[in-house]
Amino acid sequence: MNRFQDKVAIVTGAASGIGQATAARLRSEGATVVGVDRDPVSDVDLAIQLDLLDVAAIQPAVDQVIAAYGRIDVLCNIAGLGHFIRDEEETLEGWNRTIGVNLTGTYFMSTACLPHLIESKGAIVNTASTAGTNAQPWSSAYSASKGGVIALTQTMAITNGKTGVRVNCIAPGGVETPITEQFLPPDDVDLALMNRILPFDRMGRPAELAAAFAFLAGDDASYCNGIILRVDGGMQA
Ligand SMILES: NC(=O)c1ccc[n+]([C@@H]2O[C@H](COP(=O)([O-])OP(=O)(O)OC[C@H]3O[C@@H](n4cnc5c(N)ncnc54)[C@H](O)[C@@H]3O)[C@@H](O)[C@H]2O)c1
Repeated sequence: MNRFQDKVAIVTGAASGIGQATAARLRSEGATVVGVDRDPVSDVDLAIQLDLLDVAAIQPAVDQVIAAYGRIDVLCNIAGLGHFIRDEEETLEGWNRTIGVNLTGTYFMSTACLPHLIESKGAIVNTASTAGTNAQPWSSAYSASKGGVIALTQTMAITNGKTGVRVNCIAPGGVETPITEQFLPPDDVDLALMNRILPFDRMGRPAELAAAFAFLAGDDASYCNGIILRVDGGMQA
């Protein structure tokens, strides 16, 4: 398949996990891929090192893409972080960092790319989580950020639909990536809160998520707008 021939795709979080797999997938289907991350990114056409907490640096990064390639067709907002913590121990710094990367970073990457996506009639694919569609214990900031990404996706989808830009969202369940190491339950808590009904006996693989990103980013999803696609192996809680 060469669904992304002659298209330019920006993938945030491209240094690791789902973002890295999505960058590789889009590239294998012909896209020119720009990888954006606070960590060094390899195996892309253009790597931009950017801390999404530095909102003022987002527009110059997008300008760099336009200077290099003259167009943007796809934006996959995948960068994210989070942690488990008891509510009474959360700090303002921890809350702001989580909301800042996951929600504020997603929004301002999207607004900076939007004029170019309107020109190309392109697509945004955001990353929520089943933590945003369902409850997840000890992660109020993370779950709130992901619930915010869902609301943001649906709002931008209806606001911009008539321009030809589609805005959709993937909600992963548990996926084998380094982020899961950040989610260690606090000591002495009721681990039954973590119980989920998993029809499969394994977590998702980054490549399985990348396939969903490629679907929503491409023309096969031309009538999908504002959807939240859970890719979670059938998690029921
Ligand atoms: N792995 C899972 O189980 C799971 C489940 C649900 C949702 N998600 C979401 O999927 C997305 C990708 O996560 P992953 O599992 O691939 O984790 P990961 O840790 O492998 O990748 C996250 C990437 O985001 C980048 N990043 C973090 N903070 C950043 C910042 N301030 N500026 C720029 N880049 C930054 C990291 O450097 C890293 O490359 C995240 O949004 C995460 O919330 C993951």
